[in-house]
Amino acid sequence: MLIDAQNIHKSFATQDGPLPVLRGVDLQLDKGETLALTGESGSGKSTLLYLIAGLDSVDDGTISVAGRQVHGLDDQGRAELRRETVGIVFQQFNLIPSLTVGDNLTFHARLAGRENEAWTAELAERLGLTDFLRRYPEQLSGGQQQRVAIGRALAGRPKVVLADEPTGNLDEETGEQVAQLLLDLVRDTGAGLLVVTHSLRLANRLNKRVHLANGKLA
Ligand SMILES: Nc1ncnc2c1ncn2[C@@H]1O[C@H](COP(=O)(O)OP(=O)(O)O)[C@@H](O)[C@H]1O
Ligand SMILES: [Mg+2]
Repeated sequence: MLIDAQNIHKSFATQDGPLPVLRGVDLQLDKGETLALTGESGSGKSTLLYLIAGLDSVDDGTISVAGRQVHGLDDQGRAELRRETVGIVFQQFNLIPSLTVGDNLTFHARLAGRENEAWTAELAERLGLTDFLRRYPEQLSGGQQQRVAIGRALAGRPKVVLADEPTGNLDEETGEQVAQLLLDLVRDTGAGLLVVTHSLRLANRLNKRVHLANGKLA
């Protein structure tokens, strides 16, 4: 089991008191499996993804990723898990503006001591980034920036790729190309994929689909 989340509860403190967002969520992802997570805006999709990624901590419940318990780790442990096991693609690309495209690609893999030059070169080639490696993110289109973000997520050959509406900021045609690249690379590396998406076209191409509503998955 790559991801095993059980009975996840998460609330946020607001001025009007606690806002319960996740109220007993169970989610499993097997090795090599691809899973689409859908749900209305504000239903808690990003919250769930961030908990699995170890970017935030649960109020209750257990999460293990690639056999390691995320919920019991301290900040450093969670940072380590993210570097070594998980690749994350955000809707807003989240590239580092002061680094070149090439350095953005390898940044996380290098931090984790998992950089592999041949693999980076293959990624750049397959993502159509070879001619842009010395540019800066702001000099790229949205679709190009998201291709860099996908390359960055995969550069360290993570066991799990988590993607939060990776095509949400792209026009339909560009989004379609980017989604295809993501799926191809995930398949070829054997990683598991959890992707938050509104695109039925993308969701239909994955192994499984779950829907988040009223704090629970169905
Ligand atoms: N850090 C936070 N503090 C307070 N409320 C939050 C925080 N993060 C998310 N929320 C709220 O939790 C709910 C779920 O948010 P989110 O997970 O981003 O939804 P989705 O990704 O499905 O659109 C929303 O009502 C949002 O306003
Ligand atoms: Mg979201």
